[in-house]
Amino acid sequence: MASKPYDPRDFYFRQAHKDGLRARSAYKIEEILDKNRLLSAGSKVLDLGAAPGGWLQIMGRRVGPKGRVVGVDLVPIRPLPELPWVTTAVMDIRAEDFPEALARIEKGPFDLVTSDMAPKTSGIKAQDEARSLQLSDLALETAARLLPKGAGFVCKVFMGGDFQSYIRRCGDVFSTVKILRPKASRERSFEHYVIGLNRK
Ligand SMILES: C[S@@+](CC[C@H](N)C(=O)[O-])C[C@H]1O[C@@H](n2cnc3c(N)ncnc32)[C@H](O)[C@@H]1O
Repeated sequence: MASKPYDPRDFYFRQAHKDGLRARSAYKIEEILDKNRLLSAGSKVLDLGAAPGGWLQIMGRRVGPKGRVVGVDLVPIRPLPELPWVTTAVMDIRAEDFPEALARIEKGPFDLVTSDMAPKTSGIKAQDEARSLQLSDLALETAARLLPKGAGFVCKVFMGGDFQSYIRRCGDVFSTVKILRPKASRERSFEHYVIGLNRK
């Protein structure tokens, strides 16, 4: 069967518009959260690669006013005045001083670290895969540093050469590691989400 033609204004795009969400990717974290007990009212979350803020909206609504969500990205995130417990900052996770810069905003520990980071693609497959893996590794390193025992992790990973060894590295940090490809992921995308449960 031939694959469907690429439709940038697909069902999830139109639904996001109706639901007041900034990005269709919001439905990916919604599905992940619905299928896994990763946060609850009052949780503290760090979201890496958070612009334009779809995941922040979903997680901000779920943690509620007693919770806290910190979103960081290379580009500024439009404020979310309806969710004052969500804080955003411009940061590069690859920067040497990232841990200190983050600690100035929020020291942690967090209940959940999420990453939907994706590098700007060059079209050169090996280079794009390597850049993507670097971001996923940095997200895992950050999670390992800031999460206490029992906490969780969600990270976008592109299926490629080093995928299995990344899953093994996640297994060193979390008791359970699951892989999910949300319904809202585009048909042609190689993306998968790694879910780490129960920080060791
Ligand atoms: C797919 S978007 C995230 C969408 C977001 N989850 C949402 O729902 O709105 C990926 C983001 O990763 C960010 N990113 C890429 N490299 C980064 C880095 N080194 N540090 C921080 N953010 C990064 C990009 O700027 C981009 O905004």
